[in-house]
Amino acid sequence: MISGNRGDSLSVADGTWTNAGSAIFNGRIRGLFGTYTAGNLGVQPLHLQCPVTVSGLPCPRAPRVTSAPRPPDAPCDLPIRPEPPTPLPCPATAPEAASRFVSSACGCSRQNHPMKPTPAIEPPPLTVSLIPVLRDNYVFVIHGAGPGPAAVVDPAVAGPVIAWLESRDLELVAILHTHHHSDHIGGAPDLLHRWPSAAVIAAAADRARIPHQTMGVADGDRLSLLSHSLEVLAVPGHTAHHIAFVLHPYPEPASNPPAPDLFCGDTLFAGGCGRLFEGTPAQMKASLERLAALPEATRVWCAHEYTLTNLTWAIAECPEDGPIAARLAAVRRLRADDLPTIPSSIALERATNLFLRADDAEELGRLRQSRNAW
Ligand SMILES: [Fe+2]
Repeated sequence: MISGNRGDSLSVADGTWTNAGSAIFNGRIRGLFGTYTAGNLGVQPLHLQCPVTVSGLPCPRAPRVTSAPRPPDAPCDLPIRPEPPTPLPCPATAPEAASRFVSSACGCSRQNHPMKPTPAIEPPPLTVSLIPVLRDNYVFVIHGAGPGPAAVVDPAVAGPVIAWLESRDLELVAILHTHHHSDHIGGAPDLLHRWPSAAVIAAAADRARIPHQTMGVADGDRLSLLSHSLEVLAVPGHTAHHIAFVLHPYPEPASNPPAPDLFCGDTLFAGGCGRLFEGTPAQMKASLERLAALPEATRVWCAHEYTLTNLTWAIAECPEDGPIAARLAAVRRLRADDLPTIPSSIALERATNLFLRADDAEELGRLRQSRNAW
């Protein structure tokens, strides 16, 4: 039995299928799409027409077993045309995808194919590395300890990213975009030329401005990325459809404070926030409050090295502020050695970021105008 709703992650066979929602994929497939992750083999788009048959599994539209049944007259939020059950093709017939589903003789991990039992394997921890590009952009790489799959966030350019990945025998399996600006998506075409089967994850609402999407996402979606949970947050303000990604540790440590990794693009910066190109101060305030509510230990991977300028401005605004002054001194030392000031943390931003400390949208708007003029 498999059933689920938008955003659910479901255990299937030896991996996890994440239902990213209903969709019309590339204008052709009407049904469900999601990701299937087996072991540490990476994220893989899995497009399922509905109803699906995975060893006789019924359609995911069915009411969840563990929740109250949907009233019979309630509209279904998954616009799926009725079709007879369609057997899923064996991924072994798709060479590009087969290498990531290697658990049986035919290369297929689905339950209706002969397969070897795969023990539950705790996925290895992930590391985030940053690649400085252009004048002050960072491209982030999410990867394991050695050669294997990797994902990149906001690739402004491709060349340095390809070289970085190839030098470490990393295979790109996913590209994440926080928003549509060229210094966040510009490298995607050449990366896809090098790794054509990589998934492209971005805001579905911005499909017109962020091309190559294979997985459009929205606020609240949960995906499985490299066997770890990836949460999507809508954070409008810098752009209308800006999103942030929260990569949760797996398993969530019971004894330690949770320390997710936040990829917030141009919404929250170390000591600052993004310009309001398509949003209002109220929208940015709400977005920053969502991010500030994440665990204090959350690592903040913002997409630009603006920290020194932000804190220099902030201390001019608040000359007597001890935490800001102390942070500015530390940042000056880092930058003097040409070292990054990223990642920050939610705790540090709460203490020293004037935009997070703003009482209301009006104050945030005034601060933003002051920072614009700095
Ligand atoms: Fe931007």
